[in-house]
Amino acid sequence: MNSAHWWKEAVIYQIYPRSFYDSNGDGEGDLAGITSKLEYVKKLGVDAIWLSPFYTSPNKDGGYDVSNPRDVDPRFGNLNDAKVLINSAHELGLRIIADIVPNHFSDQHEWFQAALKSAPGSPERSRFHFYDARPDGTPPNNWISLFGGPSWTQVDDGQYYLHLFDSSQPDLNWDNAEVHEDFEKTLRFWIDLGVDGFRIDVAHGLVKENVLANHPDPQGLSNALRLDVAMDTEKRNELLVSVPYFDRQGVHEIYRKWRKIFDSYSNRDIMAVAEAWVHPPVNATRYVRADELHQVFNFDLLTAEFNAQVLYEVIERSISLNATVGALPTWALSNHDSPRVASRIGEEESRALALFVFGLPGSTYIFAGQELGLPDGELKDSDRQDPSFFRTNGEVKGRDGARVPLPWNGSNSPFGFTSGKPWLPIEQSWKAFNVENQEADAKSTLHLYRTALELRKRYLTSNGEITWINSPVSGEKLQAVLSYSRGSITIVLNLSDVAYECQIQGQPLVVSTGEIDVHNGKKLIPARSCAWFIA
Ligand code: NOJ
Repeated sequence: MNSAHWWKEAVIYQIYPRSFYDSNGDGEGDLAGITSKLEYVKKLGVDAIWLSPFYTSPNKDGGYDVSNPRDVDPRFGNLNDAKVLINSAHELGLRIIADIVPNHFSDQHEWFQAALKSAPGSPERSRFHFYDARPDGTPPNNWISLFGGPSWTQVDDGQYYLHLFDSSQPDLNWDNAEVHEDFEKTLRFWIDLGVDGFRIDVAHGLVKENVLANHPDPQGLSNALRLDVAMDTEKRNELLVSVPYFDRQGVHEIYRKWRKIFDSYSNRDIMAVAEAWVHPPVNATRYVRADELHQVFNFDLLTAEFNAQVLYEVIERSISLNATVGALPTWALSNHDSPRVASRIGEEESRALALFVFGLPGSTYIFAGQELGLPDGELKDSDRQDPSFFRTNGEVKGRDGARVPLPWNGSNSPFGFTSGKPWLPIEQSWKAFNVENQEADAKSTLHLYRTALELRKRYLTSNGEITWINSPVSGEKLQAVLSYSRGSITIVLNLSDVAYECQIQGQPLVVSTGEIDVHNGKKLIPARSCAWFIA
């Protein structure tokens, strides 16, 4: 495989446009705002930006409810702003990855509006999953939406339509040729406009099987799919191994077709990354077979405890499974759907883990704000906007905490994010996190990320495999230290609550998350910290 592919070991910065930077004072981030901050992104040392959706949308699910996939929602600007953003990023050597949402449209999409006006059995309805009610008037099956409540909503003439997510997000029927054609058109539209790749939303969900059959345990399945619900691992595995609407073989045919489209732009090196929560983990490798997609997200680090055994297993498994299909893994500590890593495992721990992960082979994803060490925002229920909050009557708090806008500068909230009222409140305590303050502090998380990413590029990218030094299987009874070497760099993570005396001789320190005490040729790595040494 050609190691020159730009995406292979790229560092990709995820921007949730609504929360990044507001250029026009309406309280929501926009494309022009992102363009105005590109120098900041470039300086971080990343290779590409993944933009969460900015398409025309009623915004019932943060833009993942798309009513026109080939236009920009006015809240984010217009198509020209998208062009300017893409071109300006390219001038700085940054690639752009767009989000594509093929599992569903918004109910405001013209196709769904036409379906509502058309008769049962019509071609307009066949683009979605419309079925008659059961004889007793209940939905065609007992599936539960991933956002809570039934997966079906009834329309005026009595038919139901399927929605794995919110009722405003009708699932598309991928047995319909028009659906294929429309998405192929959308892919080409954005490639022609200049994007360099796609993040494929719910990539494992497009093909459904047995749509009219009940699931034996819909509530159990729904809980198993929710990462915030504790469940016996065996039970969870049993439920997840066959989800009638996820990871069906048919999805791979779609990606084989898409791959041909990407490759037809022979001078562009267009890539795609699958959002595919599949089980067992080996199934994820199917999405990155040579004739399918380029990367698949590994979500394990979004939930993994700060524990040597757990982290070792996650890392080893991802590297070795991907290797079976000639692919490299991906790593992500946070995204817009999960609690921020600093809130989940702790501030110090999250800095240490990031530094540890930056050395690994493959592509690393950074969720905007992670480089500032942001925690989740504290929100009142009255601030919340996530549909999962409403569909579960508040039982699930939802994902808004991770989506609170970025603090840029100044002493008072909203810290330069907007000249208006931010769409989610930014706590006053976030002053310490703001970019301006972190620029001025050489020990800030922002400087740590910049330094580490620069060193990663210099010493690690394309530098082959890792060799474990300390691991739970190294026989050295080190329960809380992980270390590996790659190229000329050795990376040591001390997960314990006490300092660890490292035996590395004569290798200067290049970066660390704590103060490394060097004495008698030995190095003392503080509790919950990580350090890189160079041979
Ligand atoms: C995954 C996206 O990341 C999430 O934000 C969205 O709610 C669902 N897919 C539905 O599109």
